[in-house]
Amino acid sequence: MKQRFLGYGRQTIDDADIAAVVDVLRGDFLTQGPAVERFETALADRVGAKHAIAVANGTAALHLACLAAGLKAGDVAVAPTMTFVATANAPLYCGARTELVDIGRHNLGLTADILRAALASHPETKAVLPVYFAGLADGAAELAAAADGRTIIADACHALGGVYEDGGPVGSCQHCDMSVFSFHPVKPITTAEGGAVTTNDSELARRLQILRNHGIERDPARFVDQADDEAGPWQHQQQALGFNYRMTDIQAALGLAQLDKLDAMLARRRQIAAYYDARLGNLENIVLPQSELAARARSGLHLYLLHIDFAALGITRPEAMTQLRDRGIGTQVHYIPVHRQPFHRDRIAGTPGDFPVSEQYYRGALSIPFFPSMTDHEVEFTVAAIKDLVQ
Ligand SMILES: Cc1ncc(COP(=O)(O)O)c(C=O)c1O
Repeated sequence: MKQRFLGYGRQTIDDADIAAVVDVLRGDFLTQGPAVERFETALADRVGAKHAIAVANGTAALHLACLAAGLKAGDVAVAPTMTFVATANAPLYCGARTELVDIGRHNLGLTADILRAALASHPETKAVLPVYFAGLADGAAELAAAADGRTIIADACHALGGVYEDGGPVGSCQHCDMSVFSFHPVKPITTAEGGAVTTNDSELARRLQILRNHGIERDPARFVDQADDEAGPWQHQQQALGFNYRMTDIQAALGLAQLDKLDAMLARRRQIAAYYDARLGNLENIVLPQSELAARARSGLHLYLLHIDFAALGITRPEAMTQLRDRGIGTQVHYIPVHRQPFHRDRIAGTPGDFPVSEQYYRGALSIPFFPSMTDHEVEFTVAAIKDLVQ
């Protein structure tokens, strides 16, 4: 049988997922309806948060979280440069400025020391956006202390299923004000496109609910200027400038079926990661970031990261990626640091020298195939190809 091409990540869809989607298609609601509410309740229960607000994608979730936090023109938000561009873009959508900072070597994310230094230079900072890179949320309690009361919007797009060092689930918001998730196909669960914000703050939840639906409030108890209007069931008020960022019932039904499998999918990720760690951990010129046993156990394990000394191997990264692709193995680089992107480079004061850990990490970064439906044979096949590359 021909080996399928292995991407660095891939959705896991089974008959239960398909049946859940078909059920919605045969029902009364396609766009936001009862399945969205059920998904929100299930997600909030799963992560131990009071509220979950489902939206169209993770980027929309970040945007709304920044708006709900009150970010506006003149404000500053701190975010690590080693992330997908969406994290850094979200404050800009609100007219605020994103202050990009470097990352720590252990978690490949924001650290308390880095945050304290950024806040010393920019005390006016209003929000902090840590990224739980590849699913690891380590250092979150120290970050919360260092943020000194500023709003923390955790970009947990990689980290559903992960836990904090003190054992609480990512998404519980015990070390942040809002947690943002993405349900893109490569993420821990998928709704095709999709995202959510979780929070324990009822006022933030209300703002998020209104903003995802054009800024429209439907609860008469919350209307302003009620006396002027004829009361009636059609009444609604636009109270803010919002968006159509709604999730559909089709997506939410898929999300519910996926949530049921989150533990099983995470268990398979743990198995594969342990196998990779054992087989690739001792190879020369490869370092496995975040591979300490305790970190592996806490992480949502979104990506399997290698850090390769390509210069020592005498091969360039593009050459290595081509060699692997020719063997049916897809790889990716997570991420080009945001400060290198032309759009951001032209807007920030810093130079690459200001982000030494991110730059060093970027030079050797390579994510290899890692998703729950990989067979043992596919995992072994990937190990063999990586070994051939470096030996
Ligand atoms: C760290 C991070 N933040 C934000 C996003 C944006 O999520 P989405 O693709 O659902 O808009 C992603 C996903 O691509 C991500 O990896």
